[in-house]
Amino acid sequence: MDNSKPTKRIIIGSDHAGYSLKEHIISSLSDKGFIIIDIGTHSKQSCDYPVFASKLCDRLNKGSADLGILCCGTGIGMSIAANKIKGIRAAACSDIYSAKYTRLHNDANVLCLGARVIGEGLADELVNIFISTEFEGGKHKRRVDMISALEQ
Ligand code: RB5
Repeated sequence: MDNSKPTKRIIIGSDHAGYSLKEHIISSLSDKGFIIIDIGTHSKQSCDYPVFASKLCDRLNKGSADLGILCCGTGIGMSIAANKIKGIRAAACSDIYSAKYTRLHNDANVLCLGARVIGEGLADELVNIFISTEFEGGKHKRRVDMISALEQ
């Protein structure tokens, strides 16, 4: 990690299907020195992913963290729920290019991962590229502002 920059704060959540992947990502990011906020779920007991999407996004919007990660079975339910919340740009990614460009061009602030779609190794790569890539701004800011206008 670049010690000249403040340590990034990552907020993470899952449902039961994403629980094991969430625990794996927490372990990987903790080893790298990131500050982690875990909003649950805390077991494999069946639960409802919109509850955790909502909880994570509310806390992200309040400034508790810099970026969010949500894990469910496909990553899709979490992304649909998260994108209902004002200020959230959530991207379900299972390839490196998308995880990089959703930061560069969309200023995505939540990465959604499908634990039943990808393995832990790819998840680590996706998380690393998502967290380490900064928004490009410029013409992309105009477009992201247009997305924000759709929330009004
Ligand atoms: C849970 O079975 C599953 O539906 C959920 O984790 C997620 O994949 C929904 O999109």
